[in-house]
Amino acid sequence: MASTWGVRTSFQVFTIILFAFVISVLYFTTKEDGSRSRSRSSPSSLLTENHNVVRDTMEEVERMSGCDYFSGKWVFDNQTYPLYKEKDCTFMSDQLACQKFGRKDLSYQYLRWQPYHCNLPRFNATALLEKLRNKRLVYVGDSLNRGQWISMICLLDSSLPPSLKSINTNGSLSVFKAIEYNATVEFYWAPMLIESNSDDPVNHRVPERIVRTQAIEKHARYWTDADFLVFDSYLWWKRPFMKVLWGTFESSDGIYKKVEMLKGYEMALRTWSDWLEIHVNHSKTHIFWMSMSPTHERGEDWGGVTGQNCYNETQTIKKNDYWGSGSDPNMMKLVETTIENLNKKGLNIQILNITQLSEYRKEAHPSVHRKQWEPLTNEQLSNPSGYADCIHWCLPGVPDTWNEILYTYIYSTSL
Ligand SMILES: *[C@@H]1O[C@H](CO)[C@@H](O)[C@H](O)[C@H]1NC(C)=O
Ligand SMILES: *[C@@H]1O[C@H](CO)[C@@H](O)[C@H](O)[C@H]1NC(C)=O
Ligand SMILES: *[C@@H]1O[C@H](CO)[C@@H](O)[C@H](O)[C@H]1NC(C)=O
Ligand SMILES: *[C@@H]1O[C@H](CO)[C@@H](O)[C@H](O)[C@H]1NC(C)=O
Ligand SMILES: *[C@@H]1O[C@H](CO)[C@@H](O)[C@H](O)[C@H]1NC(C)=O
Ligand SMILES: *[C@@H]1O[C@H](CO)[C@@H](O)[C@H](O)[C@H]1NC(C)=O
Ligand SMILES: *[C@@H]1O[C@H](CO)[C@@H](O)[C@H](O)[C@H]1NC(C)=O
Repeated sequence: MASTWGVRTSFQVFTIILFAFVISVLYFTTKEDGSRSRSRSSPSSLLTENHNVVRDTMEEVERMSGCDYFSGKWVFDNQTYPLYKEKDCTFMSDQLACQKFGRKDLSYQYLRWQPYHCNLPRFNATALLEKLRNKRLVYVGDSLNRGQWISMICLLDSSLPPSLKSINTNGSLSVFKAIEYNATVEFYWAPMLIESNSDDPVNHRVPERIVRTQAIEKHARYWTDADFLVFDSYLWWKRPFMKVLWGTFESSDGIYKKVEMLKGYEMALRTWSDWLEIHVNHSKTHIFWMSMSPTHERGEDWGGVTGQNCYNETQTIKKNDYWGSGSDPNMMKLVETTIENLNKKGLNIQILNITQLSEYRKEAHPSVHRKQWEPLTNEQLSNPSGYADCIHWCLPGVPDTWNEILYTYIYSTSL
């Protein structure tokens, strides 16, 4: 409470100073180049339908202070949330449909992410579809990214009649199409980004994970010419060592070497960024990187009992800046460095740092409320936390917020 107050007060002082500054800046830029300042404020025009001067100027302040969407808190809001109903989403996955699989406490659906210093614009499916007209938005990565893709098509679903949308899966690529808009929202399965022995979109549970060095083209040719790319790759790397292959999976003379995971991750990121630098159209493609999605597998992390995990949790974590032991800052650092370098080379790439906001949501995982691949044994049933999924997220839920933030960025691009 005290620290929130501190933040607010210093923000007020900050706002007053910026306000004065912006008024003078606005005065001069409007005189100089009115059209430019108008077009630059277009993202904030989403915030309200009814523009009044004070609000617009406030938004200008927010924009100019580079509002940090990733720093904030979760607030109860059953007026505007959830953004869609679980059962109304045609494309809902049984892995994420917590209500369908017996979750009674639905409080996880009524939380809105409130950044401290600004508001997230309300998601507007029509506005996004307009923006995506004749374009491809492609999510590339693992099952967390797939969950975010499903969230996005659920967010768009209700504004499209059944005859004007389709979904098709062919191998690693799933394509949702908004026919009238000639827009696609796609997901491509590549959990390690580069080639690996986990690339089969269905059967990817392998006892030993192997990545193939400097090999990404097999995947990348499906997404290189997309207009918007959303990547993630994190959880599949979470083990101390990784086996790396020099050679191909098909030939028998490949060389295998066990490397420290961070080394392998760095190598994969380099292969990925080299590809982007050379093959992606710098002036056309907008790239986003979703930072690591936290897990809630260790109750000790938030002051719970040892052996406890997200099972049975119904409350968010209230501790400011809570950071679980599962989220590896070293991996984040590697991503940050890689992306800074790409930005220096003129690529349009942005990290969406959703780790912190998701850390607070220990109650928002499917836990035991999802479809089980195999019938549970009596032993499992007697210890539910043993099979609880504390990795993925229920929908509607946390990934909707990631997409609202993504939406804000996509909407403000000049495409
Ligand atoms: C929202 O929550 C409040 C307080 O719990 C409750 O009184 C109200 O009926 C709820 N409104 C909706 C639309 O669910
Ligand atoms: C959503 O966006 C569309 C297209 O830009 C616009 O016509 C509509 O008024 C917006 N809806 C709301 C509720 O803001
Ligand atoms: C439809 O969208 C694709 C990109 O996804 C584009 O290449 C194609 O030109 C578009 N078609 C029309 C008729 O604009
Ligand atoms: C599926 O993808 C493969 C490889 O890209 C392609 O050859 C094939 O025609 C596709 N099948 C369908 C039904 O689209
Ligand atoms: C890159 O994209 C821009 C904007 O869409 C386009 O004008 C240009 O021709 C593209 N360049 C190449 C090499 O395809
Ligand atoms: C889970 O929560 C319910 C309701 O609060 C409680 O009755 C039950 O004992 C809890 N189970 C475990 C294993 O903590
Ligand atoms: C993401 O946010 C966390 C917590 O606020 C911060 O510690 C970290 O440095 C940020 N990472 C990046 C890449 O911005």
